[in-house]
Amino acid sequence: MKKTVLSVLVALGVTTGSAFGAGDAAHIHDVDFSFEGPFGSFDQHQLQRGMQVYQEVCSACHGLRQVAFRTLADEGGPHLTEDQVKAFAALYDVYDAELDDTRAAIPSDKFPRSGVENAPDLSLMAKARAGFHGPAGLGINQIVKGMGGPEYIVAILTSYTGEEKTQAGSTLYENTAFPGGWIAMAPPLSDDQVEFADGHDASAHHMAEDTAAFLMWAAEPKMMARKWTGLLSVGFLALLTVLLYLTNKKLWAPHKRKA
Ligand code: HEC
Repeated sequence: MKKTVLSVLVALGVTTGSAFGAGDAAHIHDVDFSFEGPFGSFDQHQLQRGMQVYQEVCSACHGLRQVAFRTLADEGGPHLTEDQVKAFAALYDVYDAELDDTRAAIPSDKFPRSGVENAPDLSLMAKARAGFHGPAGLGINQIVKGMGGPEYIVAILTSYTGEEKTQAGSTLYENTAFPGGWIAMAPPLSDDQVEFADGHDASAHHMAEDTAAFLMWAAEPKMMARKWTGLLSVGFLALLTVLLYLTNKKLWAPHKRKA
């Protein structure tokens, strides 16, 4: 009996293993992000670094049109000062329908849309992709490790092989994390491309993690509030359980003694 259970487990393991090998998706590594788990919270400094990488590198092609500049001041997020938000917003030009012209952005504006036609908007990207699947379609890995949206972004940014090919007039770059294996985005990150104000290591891998954290915040800015509400409700229910148990004991005590 035990043996059968074991062999089933082994078979499951083998299927997942071969799924990674045979399929297009590369192995996506779990990253220990600060915002994971029931008590996790965003690391303000990491979000600020990710914001800088987005601004200096990614925003050349990708938009973030669901995110308003003023939210950069939110507690639990990058938590910039109001002056910093103003200065940051002014780095962007937005189209103003009233002026029928472009002008420097102000905090109440949203980030502009994608400048490059086939570059997707990144506002919800961290929640729109899953890094982990299986085993065998059960989704257990997602319960254990999380959906893996940020991990998928890290993998996309760091899994270029250096191979290129031209297809139908456009250049494609081999990327083992991208489904299909060939992506139309040129490798955007290289070591020390960005200089962080806090002197943090700017290797491509670190920048990828910081950017992924920033994009997770962009996709779910209220994550901390959500977790706190969850914890509070579980605490409340636990307390209620104890009180109801004691009430029940007390109410039944006289009748039980009679019998
Ligand atoms: C030179 C333009 C350019 C720059 C700079 C750039 N990207 Fe892209 N990116 C693209 C294009 C084009 C695509 C669409 C690729 C495709 O579908 O083959 C893309 C796709 C993506 C995707 C989606 C992959 C998917 O699963 O569909 C992510 C995530 C992404 N980019 C993140 C980033 C991040 C983060 C940065 C900054 C570090 C960045 N990109 C910088 C052009 C760019």
